Amino acid sequence: MKTDSIKKYRPFPPVNLPDRTWPDKTITHPPIWASVDLRDGNQALPQPMTVDEKIEMFDLLVRIGFKQIEVGFPSASDTEFEFLRRLIDENRIPEGVIIQVLVQARKQLIERTFEAINGAPRAIVHLYNSTSPLQRRITFSDASREKIRDIAIEGAKIIKQLVPTVPATQVMLQYSPESFSDTEMDFAKEICEAVMDVWEPTPENKIILNLPATVEWTTPNVHADQIEWFCRNVKNRDAITISLHTHNDRGTGTAATELGLLAGGDRVEGTLFGNGERTGNLDLTTVALNMNSHGIETGLDFSDLTSIRVTYENTTRMTVHDRHPYAGELAFTAFSGSHQDAIKKGFDRRQSEEDRWAVPYLTIDPKDVGRSYEALVRINSQSGKGGIAYILERDFGFELPKSMHPQVGKFIYDIADSESRELTPEEVLEVFENTFVNTKAPLALISHTLAPDNSITAIIQHNGNEKEIKGSGNGPINALAHALESAGIKDFQVTDYRSHALRGGSDADSAAYIQIRHNDGRVVWGAGKHPSIETAGLNALITASNLLDV
Ligand code: KIV
Ligand code: ZN
Repeated sequence: MKTDSIKKYRPFPPVNLPDRTWPDKTITHPPIWASVDLRDGNQALPQPMTVDEKIEMFDLLVRIGFKQIEVGFPSASDTEFEFLRRLIDENRIPEGVIIQVLVQARKQLIERTFEAINGAPRAIVHLYNSTSPLQRRITFSDASREKIRDIAIEGAKIIKQLVPTVPATQVMLQYSPESFSDTEMDFAKEICEAVMDVWEPTPENKIILNLPATVEWTTPNVHADQIEWFCRNVKNRDAITISLHTHNDRGTGTAATELGLLAGGDRVEGTLFGNGERTGNLDLTTVALNMNSHGIETGLDFSDLTSIRVTYENTTRMTVHDRHPYAGELAFTAFSGSHQDAIKKGFDRRQSEEDRWAVPYLTIDPKDVGRSYEALVRINSQSGKGGIAYILERDFGFELPKSMHPQVGKFIYDIADSESRELTPEEVLEVFENTFVNTKAPLALISHTLAPDNSITAIIQHNGNEKEIKGSGNGPINALAHALESAGIKDFQVTDYRSHALRGGSDADSAAYIQIRHNDGRVVWGAGKHPSIETAGLNALITASNLLDV
């Protein structure tokens, strides 16, 4: 911003809580989770969900494991009303799942809401009104605190009167001082306690007090101070479930919720992937997976995150950003060479699936959210030798010797660099095979026979001319090297040799790798592939020899 623009803004006042305790705490158990996808999430969509889409989303939320699901604002629109009626009338609410409905503190709306929930086995009726000085001044035309408190009390009384009209429904009560995050703390406490006086919660029949950061005005530590202050000062704390409901205007909704949990929150409201008004609600997916990544069971199952994402994208018509934590296309992908090397080393060290997770750059095992390892390492000009070796091994079974990685890696990422694009694993294989495996020019091995004394007779083609060469050594590879030297074709020594059965290739194939040192000091590796391990070795030698000419 320009200096003149910045002058419009002021620091956010902190909470006076010098003996705050939340910074010394850690998260050890999950909160009660409440999804507001079908309300906060739906109301924020350019194209709201249809009833059928809402049902699809509801079923998804149930499958994930949510036990409290806000299904909308049934008094606000016919679609919301119809949706809720369908859930109830078609018996779609599984045992153990509580639906939640939102309503403003207005008689007609509350009455319609009770019509909507009638017959549901259990329901949370969620009353709210806005409480901050800003809202009181602007939205409610300079309404006093008393007037705002009276609106809440009146709404609470009407709800209390209507509860007996739905005898088949077990009703739980929730109140939100909307805009809690910029409400004076003493007033937030006063209005919540006034609602409690009407509803008379007990430890057995608690009230849910939801303390929303309707707009995220400040840093997460201030939010945590607000929550701790409230928890410490509100009366009858043991008769209250403190619920957190953060938004993400400053991009720290997740942090605010996590610190809010340290500060005393018992319950968390949010949405899948943080969908919601403006910059969104709290991203429940991220908070739950963050907990999983610290070894905490959450009761929510995001193990098939890709299909959850697909349903979410289809029903909301939103997209999940490529860099979204856990769910983004690139959430686990490393392009950078040094990161790829470290990831490969991390995987190589893993002995078994049960090992404690310790792979650099990856907070969780992508498999645990249903991601394959394919996306983990991708090749572009930033990539390094380790990444290329990793792809060749993971996808095609070539276990390149470590000292071969730089030669192959540089060759392949130079191509990505010159083409300024990413190479697919298949393209990496193609370049590798064309350049480093079984090459035939300028030198090709046409056929060979080996005698029991380890001497070789080979038909080769060199620069287009076919000839027979002979040599002997302590094995076939040495014998061929000597034959090439005797024929005056090449002058080198074999300095390393490895081979293995080729995983992923045809069952019968073996791979061999040969390192040679030319008399002029150059050292190169070549690879060979063949059903016979011996021929694979000879092909690797020919290829290494050819690479001296590249
Ligand atoms: O963000 C908010 O304050 C809300 C309330 C209605 C709880 O969504
Ligand atoms: Zn909200």
